Amino acid sequence: MSRSWWLAALCLSVSVAAEPVVLRCGSLLDVRADRLVANAVVVVEGEKVQQAGPASSATPPGAAKTIDLSDAVCLPGLIDVHVHLTSGEKRGYQSLGVSLPRKTVWGVRNAGTTLRAGFTTARNVGAPGYADVALRDAIEEGDIEGPRLLVAGPSLGITGGHCDDNLLAPEFRHTSAGVADGPWAARAKVREVVKYGADLIKICASGGVMSKGDQPGTPQYTPEEMRAIVEEAHKLGRKVAAHAHGAQSIKDAIRSGVDSVEHASFIDQEGIALAKQYGTYLVFDIYNDDYILEHGAKAGMLPESIEKERQVGAVQRENFRQAFLAGARMAFGTDAGVYPHGDNGRQFAYMVKFGMKPIQAIRAATLDAASLLGWADKVGAVEPGKWADIIAVRGNPLEDVRTLEQVRFVMKGGRVVKGASK
Ligand code: ARG
Repeated sequence: MSRSWWLAALCLSVSVAAEPVVLRCGSLLDVRADRLVANAVVVVEGEKVQQAGPASSATPPGAAKTIDLSDAVCLPGLIDVHVHLTSGEKRGYQSLGVSLPRKTVWGVRNAGTTLRAGFTTARNVGAPGYADVALRDAIEEGDIEGPRLLVAGPSLGITGGHCDDNLLAPEFRHTSAGVADGPWAARAKVREVVKYGADLIKICASGGVMSKGDQPGTPQYTPEEMRAIVEEAHKLGRKVAAHAHGAQSIKDAIRSGVDSVEHASFIDQEGIALAKQYGTYLVFDIYNDDYILEHGAKAGMLPESIEKERQVGAVQRENFRQAFLAGARMAFGTDAGVYPHGDNGRQFAYMVKFGMKPIQAIRAATLDAASLLGWADKVGAVEPGKWADIIAVRGNPLEDVRTLEQVRFVMKGGRVVKGASK
């Protein structure tokens, strides 16, 4: 590469940090107040928002680059708290032929796709070989394009459970990296994944849909094991996300102090009441069902997985409605990787169909997701001091939430990653 190219690249990166940028938005969605601010201006300095509000009260700096989004609605970058960037199109036995480096390359591609779909922050809840730690660091260091990531490394679970890999015959003696049985082994595993870079701990409290030989409704980690994991994780400043479909496993996980319950499919009234009492976030991945039933078999999902999905999908959506109506805390998480990355925004329409107003679904993917991540001061709203993670769509998402399926403009940390021309 020529010397002048490097110089130009250097100047470019310096100018991104130095020159303020002014976004002129047809309107700006104030997610806190649930209203559109017409004719809005966002002033971005470096990686952060410096001002945001109506053009009439803005004081944009003299020498600033302007980005014209006057035909669009601006809103905070979206957050998906349940993705698997290293999972892709090959499922079930087909996945055994995919090497870890190949999965990591999928992850690179999927990180870019997710970001360009408007998701400027994501939580990766389980990946083999610490590929997600590498992705997070590569994104932070500017090697590749992707959302800000919080990552779990390998998911913790019992022998033979959803977080183990049960595809191979016994003579292969395969055990997944996150398997740990018993409270002390589980504590040691928490220490190990933290040692290698995990931001949070993901555990399997119940069986699952995609796993072989277990049942979504059946508990896996015991309360004793989960209490040990949560205590260890919290002591080390890490949150715990628990995969739990079954009613009992959901209650056990909540009582053990986990920060979020993922899937929550068979949650019952008592479970909903407990989630409220403990302030536990529920993360219902309610887009998945259609995709699994329609395309799962082609992608290699096991016949038993498709069968289990038939038992889970519709009930989960109804329970999403119940939990929402009861006032449980919810964050937007989709389990991307089960369905194709980049389609994350399709879940909004389902959240609206099953009870939310568009603003409530949008809050789940902004303010509420940010709180679950512990990043409420950094992301989730376009406000002074927060990272300049801003997206824009055509049309009013408060009227038609499906506008979020077609994000036109994406800025992350003050840098335009999509839609720079307008
Ligand atoms: N990863 C989850 C599991 O295997 C996916 C569940 C998808 N189904 C659903 N209805 N959300 O258990």
